[in-house]
Amino acid sequence: MADREKVLSVNNLVVNFKTDNGIVQAVRDVSFDLYQGETLCIVGESGSGKSVTSKAIMGILSNNAIIAGGNIIYRGENLLEVSEEEFYKIRGHKIGMIFQDPLSSLNPIVKIGKQITEATLINNDKLKLMYSDIISDDLIRYKNTLAKMNIEINTEKKSIDAFVADCKAKAFKMTKEEKAANEKLIKEKKAGYKDFVKQTKAKYMDKAKELKAVLDVTEKKAKKQVAEYKAEVTKAHKKTEAELKRKLKAASTKEEREAVKAEIAAEEEAFEGKLKITKAEAKKRALEIMREVGIAEPERRYNQYPFEFSGGMRQRIVIAIALTASPEILICDEPTTALDVTIQAQILELINRIKAERNLSCIFITHDLGVVANMADRVAVMYAGKIVEYGTADEIFYDPRHPYTWALLSSIPDVDSKERLEAIPGTPPNMIYPPKGDAFALRSKYAMNIDFREQPPYFKVSDTHYAATWLLDPKAPKVEMPKIVSERIRISLEEDSNE
Ligand SMILES: Nc1ncnc2c1ncn2[C@@H]1O[C@H](COP(=O)(O)OP(=O)(O)OP(=O)(O)O)[C@@H](O)[C@H]1O
Ligand SMILES: [Mg+2]
Repeated sequence: MADREKVLSVNNLVVNFKTDNGIVQAVRDVSFDLYQGETLCIVGESGSGKSVTSKAIMGILSNNAIIAGGNIIYRGENLLEVSEEEFYKIRGHKIGMIFQDPLSSLNPIVKIGKQITEATLINNDKLKLMYSDIISDDLIRYKNTLAKMNIEINTEKKSIDAFVADCKAKAFKMTKEEKAANEKLIKEKKAGYKDFVKQTKAKYMDKAKELKAVLDVTEKKAKKQVAEYKAEVTKAHKKTEAELKRKLKAASTKEEREAVKAEIAAEEEAFEGKLKITKAEAKKRALEIMREVGIAEPERRYNQYPFEFSGGMRQRIVIAIALTASPEILICDEPTTALDVTIQAQILELINRIKAERNLSCIFITHDLGVVANMADRVAVMYAGKIVEYGTADEIFYDPRHPYTWALLSSIPDVDSKERLEAIPGTPPNMIYPPKGDAFALRSKYAMNIDFREQPPYFKVSDTHYAATWLLDPKAPKVEMPKIVSERIRISLEEDSNE
């Protein structure tokens, strides 16, 4: 995985909500990377912060949300800091999202066809698209370097701000001398920060300048190329137009004249089509994508309203809309929860197929480990606003380490009896007062004293597998996973080897 390109990187994300009852700590220091072409499943109970995490990536959190920390890096930009305009370009274009309830993401009074072509027709300037295509790689390389530099500086600034705030908070119970020493320390820290900024800038600036120079050259080239293309098609168009006008003059009968007029109209349209994505072209593309997502008779369906579609078909439309912008990343938030089991399986299969064909990177959110098994390359298990364990799908299913992951695995319904074997005891915590230490300790029979006091760090299980549980501390007593889980693993491994 390490050699694969990271397409998205979420670092130390903290999201709170202001409510009348207090501050809800919905996402508490979440970090993960998404690699090119993979599906990362985020799994966890209701309220664990899955949707809030994905909404933060899409920039669609509600007004009472406070992003209290962290960054989300996509192509060299911190999505939490980009301008409204830039975010608009990214959201729904480079990153597409599919929600749980397809009805709420469709406009009930607009025909399906119009809803699918809308995005295409807003960004329809072919010259602009051509230009950004040419410069894209160099631009990202340059921006990535700047983003790395800014993140280093911001992280240092935050740690110094915290230090200063801490010193100031302690100042009231200090003697005069201590206060003076304290002030001196703060000054030194601040001076140290200035040096740090200088050094960090020096460290990155040469590289950044070099990349900027490359970018400048590419931009010039791109401008020239676009201008040449425009001049060429305009010249050819003028020539054809002139010829057709001559032909029109020479035409002797009414029929001939009509025929030439039609030719002129076609030429106008063809010319426009070389500079802009036309309505006709957008429709053609929409019909292709409708076919791609498995909608029969797309021509007829194009002119229908959402209510004329079944739940599964609506979800296909929502997927089609997300695909029109050719996104790089697709975020699916419980896209099949509202559907019955057979339709659910079809939609999952569709997402898997599209993902492979278009080489998309996918974040797939679900509370259903059965779905995870069908979709995931890697899995992040979330509990109470934190990722408690992450690893490859095999590592999470065959070598789970966190008691919460064990609990989730024990609660998968049995394939034959469809019965949930063991419900997770207790209820999810109140996120206004999240528990100290390991938040799952209150519900876990494996909890130790330290679990109630201190947040466990991520312990490494393998290069790709980490779990935040004190059970992995070398000093912890040896604990086996629940029988029910180890039995299942044994059986499924046996089945695998018999196949
Ligand atoms: N706008 C909001 N105002 C206040 N609290 C919110 C808001 N949105 C979400 N929350 C809270 O944030 C926490 C995380 O919610 P989130 O929607 O991410 O859960 P989830 O993991 O997606 O759950 P589900 O499986 O039910 O969709 C919950 O405690 C929820 O109540
Ligand atoms: Mg949700």
